[in-house]
Amino acid sequence: MKKEAVVLKDSNKAIRHIAFIMDGNGRWAKRRGMPREFGHKNGAETFKRIMRRCCELGIEASTFYVFSTENWKRPQREIDAILSLLDRYLDDCEQEIKTNDVRFIFIGDLSVFSVPVQEKMKRIEEFSKNNSHIVNLALNYGGRNEIATAVNSLIKAGMTVIDEDDITGALYTKESPPLDLIVRTGGDLRISNFLLWQAAYAEFYFTDKLWPELVPDDVNEIIDNFTNRSRRFGGV
Ligand code: FPP
Repeated sequence: MKKEAVVLKDSNKAIRHIAFIMDGNGRWAKRRGMPREFGHKNGAETFKRIMRRCCELGIEASTFYVFSTENWKRPQREIDAILSLLDRYLDDCEQEIKTNDVRFIFIGDLSVFSVPVQEKMKRIEEFSKNNSHIVNLALNYGGRNEIATAVNSLIKAGMTVIDEDDITGALYTKESPPLDLIVRTGGDLRISNFLLWQAAYAEFYFTDKLWPELVPDDVNEIIDNFTNRSRRFGGV
């Protein structure tokens, strides 16, 4: 694993920032005759395995779409299940932080969460802030909302003329390197309000696999696929 990380880091095609739209938990559960919550429980286990592999590979930042600004439209029981999985994970992630050298950053409009949950997130960010592998957890996240929030924060700081770099530097992901690749499981071919600004020159990888079916070796395969692409950033 470590050896691979070195190879990736030394390559000029190295992937520095990968993001995941973790779609397909509900269908995965339904196929097994189980409630959607069962899919999210297994999806949370997949998240841990995939995130660890990203860290082992030496990827500087990985971003996971856990809960969108639109997900509040789901049945309350499902919302509660996702948020309780998250809450439990937050309670247990200290070892994860140490073992995998993870720096957690929570991105999204976190003001909707209870004060104790917000404080828990702040404590985790503080505790992990000197670690190497950024893991952005997108919660109550929407890409349009992120851009609007960034612009408003710049206006509030007194700016009257705003350029692209200003916005990039005011996004929730400002600590992360530029986004290289968005992976979406579950077969749909859309971006669903995820990392809209950051996606400008990102590559996309879509797979029909449902999120709980994704395994760590898929990450290696996805990165191989990415590495073989030609990125021209608008040039020739
Ligand atoms: C989309 O699949 C998935 C979500 C909206 C929730 C993602 C949450 C997790 C993977 C759990 C995260 C937990 C931790 C601890 C970070 P879907 O429900 O829309 O699936 P479907 O398209 O098959 O219905």
